[in-house]
Amino acid sequence: YARQLMILESCSSTQKVAKEWLVTNSFDGMLIVSEEQTEGKGRLNRSWNSTKGKGLWMSWVIKPAILPHEAPPITLVAALAIAHAIEQITTLQVDIKWPNDLLIDGKKVGGILTELQSTPEQIEAIILGIGLNVNHQQEDFEESIQKIATSLAIHHETPIYRSQLLAEIALQLEVAIRQFEKEGFAPFRERWIRHSPMIGQHVTAQTVRETIQGVAVGINEYGALLVETSQGVIPLFSGDVTLSKR
Ligand code: BTN
Repeated sequence: YARQLMILESCSSTQKVAKEWLVTNSFDGMLIVSEEQTEGKGRLNRSWNSTKGKGLWMSWVIKPAILPHEAPPITLVAALAIAHAIEQITTLQVDIKWPNDLLIDGKKVGGILTELQSTPEQIEAIILGIGLNVNHQQEDFEESIQKIATSLAIHHETPIYRSQLLAEIALQLEVAIRQFEKEGFAPFRERWIRHSPMIGQHVTAQTVRETIQGVAVGINEYGALLVETSQGVIPLFSGDVTLSKR
């Protein structure tokens, strides 16, 4: 997929670089990695801490052979592939928090920002922005995220080589997306649920329209989180979900 590789010393955001590259280049698939981002972006327009040498900051630009409406589970498939890659290279166990957070011991170690460029009929490109905290010590994180952020190194006894991890992530993403193209989300569902400790828990979900309380009971074939509420089971296609305090 990513036939081309762009490795940068520094940039504003690899997502931005990807979009600029798409304007002037014919599509060939691209992996853009930067040692540092000066304006790293997270979901919901949050900023993403991307200090030099501390993590893997990358955008994977692909054009899978699927229809635009089939794209949403791609984020879940990518999260699973990255978790799997980390588990191959380290002794760590990574959890996934729907839809796009990677957690270790309940703290965020990475996230995915998926941006879709498409017409109603076809996908032009999917830009999967991946941020993974690798080498941070706890005090490297800003005060405001100290309690909720972590890195692989904080939990791992031996050094983790980013180049090795990068190669494994690229490989696992490729394998996973190819399978997804052929078979959809169904073959990933079971594994996804096993990686997601939120399933079976009481959650509060914040969507653009409302706040939903209930029990996260599973995930459907479109990648929507199923929340059982007093009004029945609601499929959640986007939003922020947290465990309810009870
Ligand atoms: C999130 O959890 O909110 C998603 C974080 C995504 C961060 C990555 S780092 C590489 C790419 N470039 C960006 O500006 N953001 C994504």
